[in-house]
Parts: sequence; C-alpha cells; structure tokens
Amino acid sequence: FFGLPHQVPHERVLIAADAATGLRTMIAIHSTARGPAFGGCRFWAYENDLAAHHDALRLSQGMSMKNALAGLPFGGGKAVIVKPKGDFDRAALFAAFARAVDSLQGAYITAEDVGTTTADMRGVQALTPYVSGIPREGAFGGDPSPKTAWGVFVSIQAGAKTLLGRSDLQGFRVAIQGLGAVGWHLAEFLHQAGARLVVADIDAAKTAKAQAQFGADVVSVETILAQPCDVLAPCALGASLNAASIPQLNARFICGAANNQLATLQDGSALAERGITYLPDYLVNAGGIISVAREFRNEGEEGAVMAEVSRIADRVQELLARIQTSGRTPAAEADVWAQSLLVRA
Ligand code: NAI
Repeated sequence: FFGLPHQVPHERVLIAADAATGLRTMIAIHSTARGPAFGGCRFWAYENDLAAHHDALRLSQGMSMKNALAGLPFGGGKAVIVKPKGDFDRAALFAAFARAVDSLQGAYITAEDVGTTTADMRGVQALTPYVSGIPREGAFGGDPSPKTAWGVFVSIQAGAKTLLGRSDLQGFRVAIQGLGAVGWHLAEFLHQAGARLVVADIDAAKTAKAQAQFGADVVSVETILAQPCDVLAPCALGASLNAASIPQLNARFICGAANNQLATLQDGSALAERGITYLPDYLVNAGGIISVAREFRNEGEEGAVMAEVSRIADRVQELLARIQTSGRTPAAEADVWAQSLLVRA
C-alpha cells in the first residue's frame, strides 16, 4: 500500500478531525498482539494528510518492533498531528487530540515524540488516562529523551566493544546529526566518556552551545553524514540513510536515535555491502518507551528504569552474534527477531 518494509498489516487507523481547533490526527494501531498499542505523538508540519498518514503507518510499525524487542507488554502504535497552518490554540488542539485518544478506550496509549512536550501531555492527561511521559512529584517519569539517549549511548559502547574491540570511548569520534532532546543528551554522555564530537543541526544556537560546552567540531547539515568517524548517530528525522547518502558515509558503524533511519530495507543491504554495521534504530532507541511504559504501569524507580534501559546493550550484542550465524544484515535480523516475538505473543 505505502511500500512499507514489513509484512504484518496494521490493525486499525483512526483519522480524526475537529474543525473548531483545526485538529487533524491519524492514530495508527499496528499491533495489539503483545498488549495495548503504545507510542508517542508527533506534531509536524506535514505537506499533506497523505504524508502524515504514511508517517503514522511507518512509525507505528516501528513501535511494534521496538516494544517487542524491548520485552514490553505493549503493542505498537503512533499518533501524528498535522500542524495547522496559521494561528491555532495549542491547548485546545491537544484537548481535541486527547478526546480522539480516549475514544479508542485504551487500545492506544500516547506520549511525547518530535514536536510535543510534557506540557502538551499534561493537557492530554486532563481528558484521558491513556497517556504517559508526565513529570511526577517524587517519582521517575516525564521527558523520555534522556533515557532514549542513554540507551543509544550504551549501544554505542556495545558496538565499539564488539565490532572494534574498544573497551572505552576515549578519543572515539562520533558524528551526531541533530542536537535536539535526544541528540543533546547523547552528546553529554559521549563527552563525559571522552569521545570527540562532530555535530550538525539546522539550529545554529544548538551547535554553538555544543562547541562551547563539549569542544565539538561543527559542520553543515549537508556534510554531517559524510564525516569520517567511528560511529554516526542520526538523531534528527527519518530516512537519512538512503541511496544518495550511503555512498558518502565514512563511519565504521551507525547507532542513533532517529526512527526509520533506513529509507528502504534495501538500504540496510547497501550499508552491509559498504562494510558499515547498522545498529537498528528500534533496537537502540527503546530507552524512552521503556521509561514511559514503566511510568504508565507505575512500576519501579529511576535506578530500575536505568538498569532496564542499560540492558539494550545486551540485545545489541545478541543481534551482532545472531548475524554471525544467520548471515542476514542487522536490519533484516532485527525484523526477523521482532516479528518472531509478535507472532509468539
Ligand atoms: P527533537 O525535535 O528534539 O530534535 C531533532 C533535532 O534535529 C532538532 O534539534 C532539529 O533542529 C534537528 N534537525 C532537524 N533536521 C535536521 C537536519 N537535516 N540536520 C541536522 N539536524 C536536524 O527530537 P528528539 O526528541 O530529539 O528526537 C530525535 C529523533 O529520535 C526523532 O527521529 C525521534 O522520533 C527519535 N526518537 C526520540 C525519542 C525520544 O525519547 N525523544 C524516542 C525514540 C526515538
């Protein structure tokens, strides 16, 4: 239908509009095989509804894979909201979104994603219980980005060890595309571990801050992907690894937070042919969903969440061991692994 990379069809998609607030939202429920569909809400200036629909389908499918590999008792879903052109009342818009979420009666649980904030989710919480990622007095929770960054960081450590025989990241060169909520925290962790950073963002204030705080080299958004580095960390939007960019890459392996980094599954093969190991996005960026899932179930405390996020590194090592015997690319292996867990559930 949309050239989606996986075979499991979506269970349902809710398209909701509200003329009073200008809301246009698509809530895609890919799978509830493991439990209610859980995944964030993206607020983005999509070119048109079809582009938004496509994004919701791809992102929700990725959430099924991510939640399955992370061992969470949740299925995969994702919401997108088309950012209205012109003025709009943000609180009213998210209230209308909350009503759409609530109408699904728990089949979908929302949280933050690109373009949405903890304040937006607090507004949603006033109208539906099916939301997470909200700061709580005296308990862990809220913004999932630091947890996502931690999961990517431990995955980089695991990749450096298994692929390059490195026991630490001293002097390790990491190129980060995008210094947003996740990219910034990742830069902090890497800097603390002694890595050398090269960064790019469309927001010059963020790169200037990284230069001042971490001694990062700043390059243009057009050249970041081609930087010579040990690891490339795509932390902006999806499809950065494509037929145009892959021939330019100069990284030993790839490990970043962005969802749907591969434009197509064939791009996973193109990376393997170039000898660049791709650590699949939905394997390494599960830290945030692990956090909001625990928060939603009111389970554990900060230390337990961090320990669970750190276990992503074990799964990276398991994936790298699996590809030695299967001969598949890491992306294909992760798909097979995740889909086996969906079927089993
Ligand atoms: P964000 O919106 O805070 O950050 C994105 C950053 O990328 C911004 O600073 C933006 O200026 C920059 N950017 C956009 N286009 C760029 C380009 N062409 N080149 C360089 N920089 C560019 O988003 P956030 O939350 O940091 O998420 C980043 C990625 O990670 C997204 O793909 C998101 O879906 C994914 N992700 C985020 C999670 C979270 O916990 N926030 C969880 C799992 C995945």
